Amino acid sequence: MARILLTGGAGFIGSHTAVALIERGHDVVLFDNFENAERDVPARLARITGIVCPVIEADVRDEAAMAAAFALQPIDAVIHFAALKAVGESEREPLRYYDSNIIGTIRLLAAMQRAGVGRIVFSSSATVYGEPETCPIPETAKLQVSSIYGRTKLAVESLITDLERTKTLSAVAILRYFNPIGAHPSGLIGENPRGEPSNLMPYICQVARGIRPHLNVFGRDYPTPDGTGIRDFIHVMDLAEAHAAAVEHCLAQPGAFTLNLGTGQGVSVLDLVAAFERVNEVPIKLNVVARRPGDVAICYADPRLAKSMLGWQASRGVEEMCRDSWRWQTLYSQ
Ligand code: NAD
Ligand code: WQD
Repeated sequence: MARILLTGGAGFIGSHTAVALIERGHDVVLFDNFENAERDVPARLARITGIVCPVIEADVRDEAAMAAAFALQPIDAVIHFAALKAVGESEREPLRYYDSNIIGTIRLLAAMQRAGVGRIVFSSSATVYGEPETCPIPETAKLQVSSIYGRTKLAVESLITDLERTKTLSAVAILRYFNPIGAHPSGLIGENPRGEPSNLMPYICQVARGIRPHLNVFGRDYPTPDGTGIRDFIHVMDLAEAHAAAVEHCLAQPGAFTLNLGTGQGVSVLDLVAAFERVNEVPIKLNVVARRPGDVAICYADPRLAKSMLGWQASRGVEEMCRDSWRWQTLYSQ
């Protein structure tokens, strides 16, 4: 069993990964500046797991805090979630994104090097594929980012790959997530965007809750069966379990690998809305508007490499994703 430091560990994917790691017997240290996480997430994790994780409230760009985190306890591996993640915002605030996502990672890597920690799992994104030439998308597909957010992900992919090649790092897992949604089935943790959500599922949940009047459907003129965009939605607990398997692979053997984390199933915007209405028995008012700039028509993963390398594949379906997202939204906003 290992001790794993999660940067951004109080966030949406980090908190669910903490649950998956603890369930597999690992020790978890949460490192987060709480700029996009609620203060009570560690307490909620303790309610789910029965374990109180150490929490370090600090920024990954704070070298002294990073050094102290590694000095406090021996760390076997890092899962690096901490980043800013809104595509549109990255175009409006480029320096903030480059600073947090790239400088933050460089500071983390320097602290890891000084502490002799050589294993890292990195949160990348399907956004690095841009408009894919074919779907399902294999890891070997051409990379073509169109946003500053995407460029920060691609830059960090190159950075940590270089560090593994030059033996500064011993094991590197780059995980390209497709569209994570859902929540832990307890309803105690989930995604809680600040302000108006930019992603589809949080928006649907807020419409269902009456917080927003309707869902804007961004385009009904895509070359897809119902005219709306198609994505590979993946349950966040499936994603969390993939992180546990990836970090265990890094603990067992050196080397670098890059994997897609998706289900391999394409689901349209209208399909997702219909599934949500069906399983939760809540109507979602729709308003069709123009396409959102930068959106691709169809994007879903070829997930076979993750299965063959990690023995992992997503097992939860769209209905479970909708049920769990809604349970979280109703419990949270009570
Ligand atoms: P999130 O915002 O919920 O979690 C990120 C966490 O990092 C937050 O708790 C935030 O407070 C913390 N954080 C941000 N900057 C920090 C800093 N400089 N120092 C310390 N802590 C910091 O986001 P998430 O959805 O859990 O995403 C996690 C990672 O996965 C991110 O790197 C994101 O880019 C990537 N990713 C997310 C998605 C998605 O759709 N959610 C898809 C692909 C990739
Ligand atoms: C999904 C579909 C929208 C909101 C983004 C990032 C990507 C990754 C995941 C971080 C699209 C449509 C959405 C709404 C809508 N994040 N939509 N109305 O754009 O596939 O991916 O999040 O790495 O990098 O780009 O996800 O949930 O925003 O959109 O019609 O209010 O839902 O047009 O077809 P996307 P999304």
